[in-house]
Amino acid sequence: MSRPLAIAPSILASDFSKLGQEVRDVVDAGADWIHLDVMDGHFVPNITFGPDVIAKLRPHTDKIFDTHLMIAPCDPYLEAFAKAGSDIITVHAEAGPHLDRSLQAIRNLGKKAGVSLNPSTPESAIEYVLDRLDLILVMTVNPGFGGQKFIEAMVEKTRRIRQMIGDRPIDLQIDGGVTPDTAPLVTEAGANVLVAGSAVFKGGTTESYRTNITAIRDAAERG
Ligand code: DX5
Ligand code: ZN
Repeated sequence: MSRPLAIAPSILASDFSKLGQEVRDVVDAGADWIHLDVMDGHFVPNITFGPDVIAKLRPHTDKIFDTHLMIAPCDPYLEAFAKAGSDIITVHAEAGPHLDRSLQAIRNLGKKAGVSLNPSTPESAIEYVLDRLDLILVMTVNPGFGGQKFIEAMVEKTRRIRQMIGDRPIDLQIDGGVTPDTAPLVTEAGANVLVAGSAVFKGGTTESYRTNITAIRDAAERG
């Protein structure tokens, strides 16, 4: 693993009635980044939250805000997500016809640019934008919902993408079905950022979040 390991809890699995508290608790419990899942009911069959919620969460922590946009179109909203305090903005390769333009727009807003691939999208879709990227997110479930089963075929896809990245300073992130059982499979294949929703927020207390994050981190380090 060439880049540092980071665990990025997804607040999708937290209690939305007390999001600020949940962010502070999961940071106290050892989260490295906060993963923010934005869904529009169009690109994916679920709706979550938008830039105003992210802006209200921003004062609760200094940790990296990793915004995963599952929206189409995304270009009209990039500025709002940048202003809300995102550090990384990830768009889906499938969300629009002009991926290169979206990635340039994110960097022009002074943010790190990420691209996400649905399970059925081959890695060749991003070969031509590698030099515009700070992060590649490999979806290991079909986006839209937490708590789904990890798709095993994504391990070899992760390995191929790791190879494609070469020496470029790009984080390789996994999202969906990450648990202490699946974490070592993907770190062994070259991933260094693990998103986890249900596996982190189960238990509902800071103590359980700490136990959960530690279990994922320990397993990931074995990979
Ligand atoms: C799914 C989201 C994920 C989700 C992961 O579309 O992108 O970030 O929160 O949830 P778990 O870890 O429960 O699979
Ligand atoms: Zn996500």
